[in-house]
Amino acid sequence: MKAAVMREYGKPLTIEDIEINTPQAGEVKVKISSVGLCHTDISAFLGGFPPPLPVVLGHEGAGVVEEVGVGVTGLKQGDKVLFNALVYCGECPNCAKGYYGACMLNGFLMFGGTMRDHTTRLKKGDEAIHSYFCQSSFAEYAITHQDFLIKMPQDLDIDKLTPLCCGAASGIGAVFNRAKVWPAAEVAVLGCGVVGMGAIMAAKLSGAMKIIAIDVLEHKLNFAKEFGATHTIDASKEDVVESVRALSDGGVDFAIEAIGKGETISQSLDALKPGGTSVVVGAVPFGEKATIDPVQLVGEKTIMGSIIGTLKPHYDIPKYIELYRAGQLPVDKLIQAEYPLDKINEAIEAAEKGEFLKAIIRM
Ligand SMILES: NC(=O)c1ccc[n+]([C@@H]2O[C@H](COP(=O)([O-])OP(=O)(O)OC[C@H]3O[C@@H](n4cnc5c(N)ncnc54)[C@H](O)[C@@H]3O)[C@@H](O)[C@H]2O)c1
Ligand SMILES: [Zn+2]
Ligand SMILES: [Zn+2]
Repeated sequence: MKAAVMREYGKPLTIEDIEINTPQAGEVKVKISSVGLCHTDISAFLGGFPPPLPVVLGHEGAGVVEEVGVGVTGLKQGDKVLFNALVYCGECPNCAKGYYGACMLNGFLMFGGTMRDHTTRLKKGDEAIHSYFCQSSFAEYAITHQDFLIKMPQDLDIDKLTPLCCGAASGIGAVFNRAKVWPAAEVAVLGCGVVGMGAIMAAKLSGAMKIIAIDVLEHKLNFAKEFGATHTIDASKEDVVESVRALSDGGVDFAIEAIGKGETISQSLDALKPGGTSVVVGAVPFGEKATIDPVQLVGEKTIMGSIIGTLKPHYDIPKYIELYRAGQLPVDKLIQAEYPLDKINEAIEAAEKGEFLKAIIRM
């Protein structure tokens, strides 16, 4: 099958013919129809989160079940599915509690290069090719565990829903499951990419009174208004913390950091009123630190993280689909570009320049 293989960090992916195994017990092989490009793919590509090489990236796949392994229940050939990026071991103490976002192995399962059983399903001749998010969907086919697939209603165009695999769901879930934004709350969203837009849509749905969108790109701020932002701040021109305080009651109740920089994580805490909560969704490259003033914590502020929206994927994603059908989570509108697999390097280059909110790669 054709796949985009990364052999060196930061160098163009190569489109190669590689082999994919058959699904093992509990696993499913999916014919990929499209896959979203997420900022985390770019960070892995640049070596910020370095999976072992060679590897096939891609963690926002949508497709149709091709083959199921033994013990798979609830999915059969021909079913439409979305992959969920929240990969978890199912066996650690936090998984036992159903708290998959805090799975003690999720970093390994995302970036460690193998499936749950420490082997990979991909190879080229004698060379093993590593997996990514137990998925590797920049390819014509991908194998994953049934736990990481969400069955979609057959009438939906699943190619429009890849933002719910990771990016948009991460922002939506950060607001619903972590921040728990209340009606009339004041919310700041730092970063207006796909994650930030998900947070803005969810804050609007939660009844937030002020939704202050912050970015350095004017076109992203304009999109933010379309998705529900009531105010915008151009961080390339204005002091973010001063501007948020001026637009709110001296600080917001909630800040959602959807950028992934030490500096903006500090801003997210500084922009809160006492008692406020900052949810950090942005993924800072390994090794980079953020400076915070701990006296703010004595002022009853909370700073917390969230991974893939802290979802219970088999409950939350179907609910988000219902909201999508009702026109309340228009995640399809985040997709602004499409590329074929052999133009994937052009997609990565354009994404790095911030040319669009979300691109999908069509197989
Ligand atoms: N925690 C999770 O589960 C999770 C899931 C998906 C993505 N992420 C991470 O979330 C972050 C956002 O992802 P995305 O796909 O939306 O990325 P994106 O690149 O689409 O969006 C980031 C936005 O931040 C803006 N920005 C950059 N520097 C800024 C600054 N100093 N001030 C204000 N705005 C600035 C950019 O212009 C861009 O619009 C990334 O770090 C990504 O790796 C985390
Ligand atoms: Zn676990
Ligand atoms: Zn992602």
